Amino acid sequence: MSAPSIVILTGAGISAESGLGTFREEGGLWAQHRIEDVATPEGFARNPQLVVDFYNARRKQAAEAVPNAAHAALARLQAEHKGQVTLVTQNVDDLHEKGGSSDVIHMHGALNSALCASCEHRWPAPLAMTVGHGCPRCGAPSARPDIVWFGEIPYHMERIERALAEADIFVAIGTSGNVYPAAGFVQMARHVGARTVEMNLDPGENVSLFDDVRSGKASDTVPVWVNEVLAQ
Ligand code: APR
Repeated sequence: MSAPSIVILTGAGISAESGLGTFREEGGLWAQHRIEDVATPEGFARNPQLVVDFYNARRKQAAEAVPNAAHAALARLQAEHKGQVTLVTQNVDDLHEKGGSSDVIHMHGALNSALCASCEHRWPAPLAMTVGHGCPRCGAPSARPDIVWFGEIPYHMERIERALAEADIFVAIGTSGNVYPAAGFVQMARHVGARTVEMNLDPGENVSLFDDVRSGKASDTVPVWVNEVLAQ
């Protein structure tokens, strides 16, 4: 029997045990900062320094973070389950890559990337970005964090939708199921008859749509699940 096609969606919860904050839990990032100030194009236009400082702080924290057993387990699954695993993350840190994963689909962008608001050129972001930094290609002083802000279109959606259309298994790890289109992926997977699995500390908003719900810390639940899949 050929290996099942697996689509995995991760959220902030998979990086929590590596010390990176989540958004909507008690004291989370959205309790400390207003989304409209630091995660919208309007906020960036209004006060680019506040936004650049917010992402510089997160980039520094992510640079110092170490991947945990959940990241390592997913990398092992990708390596042993050749070509049948599509790893999509809402996270902008690089812990999946540090944990050994490749071809990670960052649908909300990445802290390590800078974007030119004028010509859409992308280049590796410096640890500390500056407002008005010149684009290496067009020279315009229009560098911005390469992050998908609220009201903007997530990246790589065609590729993600193609993978979901072929999925045998869809897994959501460490995400509250609050933000679309990611929160709707489980519905798309169910539509094609995929088995759906949620691994979360607390049940997500869309938990009722999952066939298999595993509560607990990702560093415990994900390695157990990966071993089950690889034993099949
Ligand atoms: N192991 C597993 N799950 C965890 C852990 C852990 N150690 N710690 C927290 N969680 C779970 C929480 O139970 C919660 O369901 O992670 C989830 C975090 O939810 P959010 O903070 O809403 O993060 P996320 O779902 O990734 O947010 C989605 O919202 O603000 C936007 O762009 C931002 O990508 C982000 C998107």
